Amino acid sequence: MKKRIAIFASGSGSNAQKIMEYFKKHNDAEVAILLTNNPEAYVLQRADNFEIPSHIFDKHEFYETDNIVNLLKNLQVNIIILAGFLWLIPQNLLKAFPNKIINIHPALLPKFGGKGMYGDRIHQSVLDTGEEESGITIHFVNDQFDEGEVIYQSRFRIEKDDDLEMIKFKGQQLEHLHYPKVIEQLLKKMKDD
Ligand code: GAR
Repeated sequence: MKKRIAIFASGSGSNAQKIMEYFKKHNDAEVAILLTNNPEAYVLQRADNFEIPSHIFDKHEFYETDNIVNLLKNLQVNIIILAGFLWLIPQNLLKAFPNKIINIHPALLPKFGGKGMYGDRIHQSVLDTGEEESGITIHFVNDQFDEGEVIYQSRFRIEKDDDLEMIKFKGQQLEHLHYPKVIEQLLKKMKDD
């Protein structure tokens, strides 16, 4: 049976798109569901285009019920992928999917992470501190923002003329290239459980 992927995303979903494309005709894995806290998120349209079902939830459902855990278990999900999802993951979900929840962050953690570090703020901080390089980090998720064990990092040089948009672009290129492949590798290593 194919391994099953659940994606959590709150925004545009360009990473979700790349993952859905990569696994569309994959022999060993498929995207089973897209979940979001944001009914306006463009990622819902992207999931629709791939005929992938979606589920919209609110804070109550996420933090005060077991609905999401039950939904993912019923779908026999093997791995949970956060792709631009900004809420902390609750204990019930962490317990139900130990070492199976993965996040991507558009900087070289442990620098430029933590609560409030998202979107352009990250790249602006990288620029403000005069870093010579930036990059992306793919990591396991725990109950703190951006603190789980690092799985993979990829980096690029910041050139003298690079502005925020350029840094964002370079990071996004790396995210789109590597995230699907890292997910594939993780699934390969997972036992059939
Ligand atoms: C991505 O760059 C991802 O690394 C970042 O949100 C963006 C979502 O873009 N995640 C975080 O900042 C998590 N702390 P997308 O919706 O186009 O995939």
